[in-house]
Amino acid sequence: MPRSLAALAACLLALPAFAQKPVSFINDVAPILKENCFACHDAKKRAGKYDMTTFEKMMAGGSDGEPVLAGKVADSELHRLMVTKDERRMPPRDKGDAVPEAKAAVVAEWIKQGAKLDGGIDPKADLLKELRVRWTPPAPPAAFDKPVVVNSLAFTPDAKSVVVGGHYELTVWDAAKGTLQKRINTRAERAMAMAFLPDGKLAVAGSRPGQEGDVRVYDLAAKAKKTEGGVEYLDGVTDTTVMVKHLHDADDSVLCLALSPDGKKLAAGGCDRAIRVWDISAGVKDAKLEQTIENHADWVLGVAFTADGKFLLSGSRDKTAKVWDLKAKESVMTFPDHQNIVYGVGVKADGSLGYSVGADKQVRTWKPGGDGKQAKNAGGHADEVFKIAFSPKDPLFATSSADKTVKVWDADKLNATKTLTGLTDFVYATAFSADGTRVAAGSFAGEVGVWNAKDKSDKPLVLFNATPGLKK
Ligand code: HEC
Repeated sequence: MPRSLAALAACLLALPAFAQKPVSFINDVAPILKENCFACHDAKKRAGKYDMTTFEKMMAGGSDGEPVLAGKVADSELHRLMVTKDERRMPPRDKGDAVPEAKAAVVAEWIKQGAKLDGGIDPKADLLKELRVRWTPPAPPAAFDKPVVVNSLAFTPDAKSVVVGGHYELTVWDAAKGTLQKRINTRAERAMAMAFLPDGKLAVAGSRPGQEGDVRVYDLAAKAKKTEGGVEYLDGVTDTTVMVKHLHDADDSVLCLALSPDGKKLAAGGCDRAIRVWDISAGVKDAKLEQTIENHADWVLGVAFTADGKFLLSGSRDKTAKVWDLKAKESVMTFPDHQNIVYGVGVKADGSLGYSVGADKQVRTWKPGGDGKQAKNAGGHADEVFKIAFSPKDPLFATSSADKTVKVWDADKLNATKTLTGLTDFVYATAFSADGTRVAAGSFAGEVGVWNAKDKSDKPLVLFNATPGLKK
């Protein structure tokens, strides 16, 4: 038999085996719908009055009626609209690529087999949530062969160590020597922001881009499951003495986090455009969601509380910085001058001045209770400015930029006092130590530097790559 015929015969033989394999709605079909359809057919957008995010609603259809007829593939609009040659296709031709053939075939096979929901799932259950709970995070490798991006970092309260957001883990490094001390694996792929709470636990804003986001709280002092080569390994996924509080889940990344200066409130914002504020005055285990603020038209990238706890400042991909009155629950100011993405916000300790940084490369200031007019353009960086971090002790703040530097600023005089060097790539993260003496920053290439915040030197005290096991 010619080789091509043999291959064909093998294919034909393989077909019935495929046909008999039961197709699971939740494991096989729902991920396809999520990837290709949910962007328009969720509870918010409901294109064609059609919400597909629960099994019941997906089967009920929109204004045209039931899109799935069990056993009848040709009569099922849900499948027909995926594979049709007609102008009206789903996703609409001008809005996205067709569902890959092999995936549409899975949907067809599921309809043919009776279009059933797997046992044990409520037809009214949120499918995004059902998909989330079925997913388990990968364990980080013992050693990485590529540098891991640093999206966020923080000094431990005693300033002796730096916690770095890695790839499905948090890593803890000696802040003086740059040696690895601990690895805490996490459900989140990336830690986008972190804040130490008054009780010494670490709140982290997590992200698995386009898939899920979270706010979880970790006890880095918890017992390690093992120690190897002087490094402690903690299980932040399943060990509840390590991952002490699961505060929030979202359908996409949580991108920013802020603790109020009195330690009583925690705020987080992200891709769902909302900012949630929790009252944690009774401890984070008894956190209460106080309010959900929907004041931005796009991703929320930065948040900060005024010292008196009355106002919340925020910056967004919608190109504005805004101020929210937490008591009156209303928006009191919009600052439009960046005219580009606002990545971060900060506020002077006495609340008299707000600061914002963004893709326009500038550090701008404005009055939180004012009319939205700029107070002063403090100057900026040679490229986009990603983060702004305030010293908890002095009128100083640091900004980090795509220009590969960190600048330290006098918050009163609004001038840069020094430009920190040593990093070789985009600087996504920067933070002050609680005593105000140190600044740390982390880059796209995995580098982390620690500098003296107050002397004249622009050279790092220590510089290391925060990627476990990376060969030099
Ligand atoms: C970019 C947005 C977008 C995406 C993605 C999208 N749709 Fe739609 N869909 C629409 C719009 C808009 C309508 C209403 C206009 C129409 O019916 O053509 C619609 C209507 C429908 C309807 C008819 C609903 C009714 O009862 O009127 C079905 C069925 C449907 N879509 C299925 C799908 C499926 C299946 C997918 C994924 C493979 C998908 N859509 C992806 C925008 C989208």
